[in-house]
Amino acid sequence: MDDALEIIRSRAGTAPVHLGLILGSGLGHLAGAVKGVSVPYADLPGFPHIGVSGHNPNLVIGDLEGVRVAVFGAREHYYENGNPAAMRVPLQVLRALGAEALIATNAAGSMRPDIPPGDLMLLSDHINFSGLNPLIGEKTDARFVPMTAAHDPDLRAGLKAAALAEGIALPEGVYTWYSGPSFETPAEIRAIKILGGDAVGMSTVPEVILARFFGLRVAAISVITNMAAGMSAENISHEHTKAMAPLGAAKLERILRRYLRGLAG
Ligand code: HPA
Repeated sequence: MDDALEIIRSRAGTAPVHLGLILGSGLGHLAGAVKGVSVPYADLPGFPHIGVSGHNPNLVIGDLEGVRVAVFGAREHYYENGNPAAMRVPLQVLRALGAEALIATNAAGSMRPDIPPGDLMLLSDHINFSGLNPLIGEKTDARFVPMTAAHDPDLRAGLKAAALAEGIALPEGVYTWYSGPSFETPAEIRAIKILGGDAVGMSTVPEVILARFFGLRVAAISVITNMAAGMSAENISHEHTKAMAPLGAAKLERILRRYLRGLAG
């Protein structure tokens, strides 16, 4: 962690970062909106080596709407190497850079007909459908992280206000983490619906747990790219996810910019 921090500070300066952003599948170009310094993950010890197309493996630190942010252009998913703690060092670095909050984004399938592809969903909470946990193996009592308000009420209220101001619907719902990389079966989707899930995806939950462990406040937004398996005739594929993500990405960018302007103002 210290080596990565050192390299980042030597290139991007030591001014504290206010907020971190993790960009999901097909959303990586948002990193280009930041005026700042881009550091490839490959230069940073402990950062993941990303092999999923549609991701941008750079950390960009700089100004977005007057707020100093750290944008993670890509994440390592559990399904890549079987490591639920793959984003541990990046999140630890984020905290060490001074950030107090993280906004994670992802592409997800919807189980709610009123939240169709192209729309966004703000996570009110999540279900860990994988049974995995990035904190397994932690030795101290700090591992018993409370998750009652893991999705921070104040951050969520701020993002909802920003969405309202932009005239963009931002319904809240429960995100369910499925390990991937295969998509879910229709029976699994029916089961997840019964359990209380509104959307399903292959990321974000381990990052929320790690971020809470490091003392970051967290909010997360899903870009809905498809109806979940068995819910529509549409074909579910990674190609489809990458093709659909930009539809929601434009809305996401407007909400984030508006939210940051509010912080800066
Ligand atoms: N399931 C899991 N992950 C996803 C989906 C889905 O339907 N769509 C985009 N990411």
